[in-house]
Amino acid sequence: MYPLTYIEPVFRPPSEWKSLILQVTNGCSWNKCTFCDMYTNDKKKFKPKKIDLIEQEIISIAQSGLATGRVFLADGDAMMLPFNRLKEILLLIKKYLPQVTRVSSYCLPRNLTNKTTEQLSELRELGLKLLYIGCESGDDQVLALIEKGETYQSSLIALTKIKQAGIKSSVMILNGLGGPELSKQHALNSAKLMNEAQPDFLSTLVVSFPLGEERFADKFSQAALQPYRQLNQSELFNEMEVLLSQLNLTKTIFRSDHASNYLVLKGVLGKDKETLLEQVRFALKQPNEAKLRQEWQRGL
Ligand SMILES: C[S@@+](CC[C@H](N)C(=O)[O-])C[C@H]1O[C@@H](n2cnc3c(N)ncnc32)[C@H](O)[C@@H]1O
Ligand code: SF4
Repeated sequence: MYPLTYIEPVFRPPSEWKSLILQVTNGCSWNKCTFCDMYTNDKKKFKPKKIDLIEQEIISIAQSGLATGRVFLADGDAMMLPFNRLKEILLLIKKYLPQVTRVSSYCLPRNLTNKTTEQLSELRELGLKLLYIGCESGDDQVLALIEKGETYQSSLIALTKIKQAGIKSSVMILNGLGGPELSKQHALNSAKLMNEAQPDFLSTLVVSFPLGEERFADKFSQAALQPYRQLNQSELFNEMEVLLSQLNLTKTIFRSDHASNYLVLKGVLGKDKETLLEQVRFALKQPNEAKLRQEWQRGL
């Protein structure tokens, strides 16, 4: 265990399970997406951590002698910090933890509006190698209904900037986010956004509501033509089939293995596109034969 005190709960991408989680901010600076309850607790009100405190924590990690090869900057959008503060943090990591080979963070497209490609390249040279971007959808109508505060275009601009700076991108898209009414356009426009952006990693999660769907459904239904309802299993697979069949990616590691998914899919796109599509079609036709997660095995 790392000798740090966290303001709980702390979230990190599944692939960062071995990383040191360094909480350089508390909460999320946006915190308005109607599907996301991750930082709604009073304790999680957004606040950047003081640099002196961050330095003390990094020193205590160095003194602990624990192996630390990777660092994830938490919480929800550490990339909202100004360029100079991010640079300071990366320099501290370099100074006290020179063995670290990769620093990563969640990132909202708008976090990069005031950062130039040159500044991002400088951060990459200081160790920032990977950004996780919750695009959630490429469809502007869906993005407005979920109050993401982003659009197809703002997401594309950020993903392009990240690529130009030589930083890797990992995008999350949410299966089921548009309900039945917007399912098709959600899948088509999400595929279009990914085709234009060509991220290094793409993962899909099924939108889930462990604290209840009321907040989400209320906002959604106020503006959509029909009230929101969650997609059933076959509708989720149908949406996945549309998404996958429309994806034209050249070298993207694709993962749909988060605990929220019924069907686990893993591959490299485009190489494995047909195999993945076959798996989805099989699950659609013969769900009892496909190895699906049971309801009790699913989670967020
Ligand atoms: C902790 S959030 C931080 C991401 C970052 N703030 C962003 O929006 O890019 C990580 C991701 O968890 C996923 N997530 C959050 N709430 C979810 C929900 N209710 N159902 C499924 N996935 C969810 C979303 O894909 C979100 O982008
Ligand atoms: S999805 Fe990301 S931006 Fe939206 S509220 Fe959650 S943490 Fe904040």
